[in-house]
Amino acid sequence: SNDDKFVKLFVTDRHGETHEAKAKIGTNMLDVIIDNKIDIDGFGACEATLSCSTCHVILSKESYESLPEPVDEENDMLDLAFGLTPTSRLACQIIVGNQMENWTFVVPKDVHDARQDI
Ligand code: FES
Repeated sequence: SNDDKFVKLFVTDRHGETHEAKAKIGTNMLDVIIDNKIDIDGFGACEATLSCSTCHVILSKESYESLPEPVDEENDMLDLAFGLTPTSRLACQIIVGNQMENWTFVVPKDVHDARQDI
C-alpha cells in the first residue's frame, strides 16, 4: 500500500522563498502545505471545498501535462484566480503521486478569494 510513502518536493511561497516539503502519496497538495507548516497568507481558505481559488499554484509545463485534466468545477474556479497561467491548478485538487519527486509548486504573489464576489 501507499500508506507511508512520501516524495520530496518544493513549494515557492508568495515572497519567492522555496521550501522543501515531505509529501505523502495520496494526500492533496493543500494538505502537504499545511502538514509541512509552510505559512502562506490566505492560502486554502475554503478548506478544499473547491469554492475559493486561494490555493492556486503554478506548475512547470511538463508537470502540468503529466497530471489528469482538471474537472469543470476546478476550471470554473481557476478562472477567478489571481494571475491565472496556462499551467495553473488548484492545490487542493492535486493528489500527490510518485512522479512528483522534486517537483516545484509556485504560489503566485497575490491571491483572490472567489467567495468575496458573492
Ligand atoms: Fe479553496 Fe482549494 S482550498 S479551492
